[in-house]
Amino acid sequence: RIIDILNGPNLNLLGQRQPEVYGRETPADVEAACAALAAELGVQVRFRQSNHEGQIVDWIHEARETAAAIVINPAAYTHTSVAILDALKAFDGPVIEVHISNVHQRESFRHHSYVSLRADGVIAGCGTEGYLLALRRVASLTAGA
Ligand code: DQA
Repeated sequence: RIIDILNGPNLNLLGQRQPEVYGRETPADVEAACAALAAELGVQVRFRQSNHEGQIVDWIHEARETAAAIVINPAAYTHTSVAILDALKAFDGPVIEVHISNVHQRESFRHHSYVSLRADGVIAGCGTEGYLLALRRVASLTAGA
C-alpha cells in the first residue's frame, strides 16, 4: 500500500532554514529515513513537497484514488488553509499531521490548526523523527486494510 507524505511551503529549505528550530536534516535525509522505515513496515512511500497550496490540494485528490493514508506537514498552511482541510475531508483513509517543531511552544498564531479538525493524530515537537512516528502509526492503522 502507498502512503503519501506531503510537505508544505518552505520545507524544501529544511536543513538550511532556521536549523535551531527545524534541525539540520535535509528533505533528502528525511525522505531516505522514511523510505528505509517503509521497507521495514512493508509499505511504499511517496514523499512530496510543494510551496503551492493548490498543488497540495491536487495531491490530496490524487491520494483519494491511490494512497492508503496521508502523513502531512502542511507547514504555514496549517494555520491558514481551509482548502487543504476540505481536501483532506474528501480523503477516506487515516491522516496524521506532523510538525517538526513544537508549535504550541511558539507564536500564538501557530497554536491553531485547520488541518487538526480532520487529522486522526498530531505529532509536534519530535523533530524530523515525527515523520517516522507518523509512518508507523498509519502503517498500523492500515494493516490488513
Ligand atoms: C511547521 C510549523 C509551522 O508553524 C511552520 O509554518 C512551518 C513548519 C513545523 O514542521 O514545525 O513551516 O509545520
